[in-house]
Amino acid sequence: MRIAVLKERAPGETRVALTPETAKKFAALGATVAVEEGAGLTASIPDEAYREAGAEVVTGSKAVEGADIVLGVQAPDVMTLAGAKPGAWVAATFDPFRNSDLIEAYAKGGFEALSMEFMPRITRAQSMDVLSSQSNLAGYKAVISSANEYGRAFPMMMTAAGTVQAAKFFVMGVGVAGLQAIATAKRLGAQVSATDVRSATKEQIMSLGAKPVFVESVEGIEGEGSGGYATEMSEEYQKAQAELVSSHIAKQDIVITTALIPGRPAPRLISDAQIATMKPGSVIFDLAVAHGGNVEGSKPDETVVKHGVKIIGFSNTSAHLAADASALFARNLYNFLSAFWDQEAGKPVLDEEIGDAVRLTHRGKVVNERLAAK
Ligand code: NAI
Repeated sequence: MRIAVLKERAPGETRVALTPETAKKFAALGATVAVEEGAGLTASIPDEAYREAGAEVVTGSKAVEGADIVLGVQAPDVMTLAGAKPGAWVAATFDPFRNSDLIEAYAKGGFEALSMEFMPRITRAQSMDVLSSQSNLAGYKAVISSANEYGRAFPMMMTAAGTVQAAKFFVMGVGVAGLQAIATAKRLGAQVSATDVRSATKEQIMSLGAKPVFVESVEGIEGEGSGGYATEMSEEYQKAQAELVSSHIAKQDIVITTALIPGRPAPRLISDAQIATMKPGSVIFDLAVAHGGNVEGSKPDETVVKHGVKIIGFSNTSAHLAADASALFARNLYNFLSAFWDQEAGKPVLDEEIGDAVRLTHRGKVVNERLAAK
């Protein structure tokens, strides 16, 4: 069993899918591990550290030669997989709803694409879930980056020269990233409030010491769909939410938006007219900017100033914390493959529940149910 890891080729991608820690663990399962030269450099992992962990360091995409399994953060182009075994597995993120050409190419190439974003949200798969591990870090980074752009302090400070007021901080979308954003902003001393369409989050917000801000006036709302994900809300709900947000947002200094709906563009949560009601010097961080954005006018990797408000957002937020993000991503992949490791066969054998959920292509065909439903 040969496991290969390439240097990530997507612009701005700093993470790597293998760390010396997971290289050692894969070797302990009996696998041979090959990693492309320089693959870990942007995540502060020198080639030497991989060698010490027992991995082969190979120049260029030759690293995949003879591979049974290729690991990636972002799925590599099929061209770079030349030399991998026929039917080789590729475990990586595929952004499946937006990457049909790549997935077709995997099917044609006879590769088995395993999409880590499609990991089911079940208890035993939590340690394999890259969306959670990366969103958590992204939520943290969004707060730190906003603090950096904000021309004032977060905590209240009583000084001889007078009092500095605590920043008012609002989180829209309380999933994994939103919860970490609340916790980080609290630690920095901000006054934190938060909202979501899923009513289950109200208690979570309060348990972190923040104030929930919820639409109560619309009957029968429950924004939770399958797998704990949000659903698209009715027009009536959206109108009530916009009114609530308008009155609240005008009083906020920092707003972080994180709302996503799988397979759809991110919902628009903040309009230009609402931005205009905010104080000059306020900051909005749009964590959904790479998926169409929650905020009108936000642009990936740019600081847009509108009505004196700075709007920021990264196309790949967790790549801004490459070392930690890689460590967690690599562990997610190891936890996934090792949970299914068949000692006798010397390779992983997936079960139906998780295998069918993550598998996009099999024996030349696109096979995934979620993709077919789309
Ligand atoms: P996500 O990244 O899909 O969305 C972020 C948040 O935005 C969600 O809380 C969503 O409800 C909210 N949202 C969507 N539309 C909105 C709107 N119009 N207005 C305001 N908020 C809106 O969500 P994420 O972070 O992936 O987590 C969703 C849920 O799944 C959470 O309850 C989380 O705890 C659960 N989960 C469970 C896992 C497991 O059991 N293995 C693993 C990961 C998450």
